[in-house]
Amino acid sequence: MGDSDHSSDPSVRLEELIDESVKVKRRAYCPYSKFPVGAAVLGCDGRIYTGCNVECAVYPLTMCAERNAITKAVSEGCKKFTAIVITSDLKNSIITPCGACRQIIAEFGMDAEVYMTKSDRSYTKLTLRELLPLGFGPDSLQEEKIIVNGAPIPTIQQ
Ligand code: THU
Repeated sequence: MGDSDHSSDPSVRLEELIDESVKVKRRAYCPYSKFPVGAAVLGCDGRIYTGCNVECAVYPLTMCAERNAITKAVSEGCKKFTAIVITSDLKNSIITPCGACRQIIAEFGMDAEVYMTKSDRSYTKLTLRELLPLGFGPDSLQEEKIIVNGAPIPTIQQ
């Protein structure tokens, strides 16, 4: 195995990432929408974590491919990643991540590259920062808060 096999540089692994997201898309469970999606996350550890969308008869419980791939990465011990590739069967448009998925990707890094592909493997690449401008994230919780009489403003106790 050469160095490129473990690289976390998306440009080195892009073809492999696209292959993996296409492959996992075939496992999508989408009987309601019939809209299969695949995602492949490239971890800073050089490993690839994949996910497909999994739908539910209670529609809002559906889980997107991107969130499934990220959940898999985190549960395998990888909380930092450099890129995520998303694949669908759309012929003339790229597949873009939904708002909820953008927020979850943001949780693990605003600089992650998001490759939004078309079915012919062409893609548009944007960083998460570009996809979620002015987003609320982990750092927002650490910012200075207003203090009254030396203590944070108390919440109403029921
Ligand atoms: N979906 C994803 O998995 N990722 C996206 O980026 C957009 C939408 C799924 C959710 C649902 O199963 C189906 O596509 C239609 O919305």
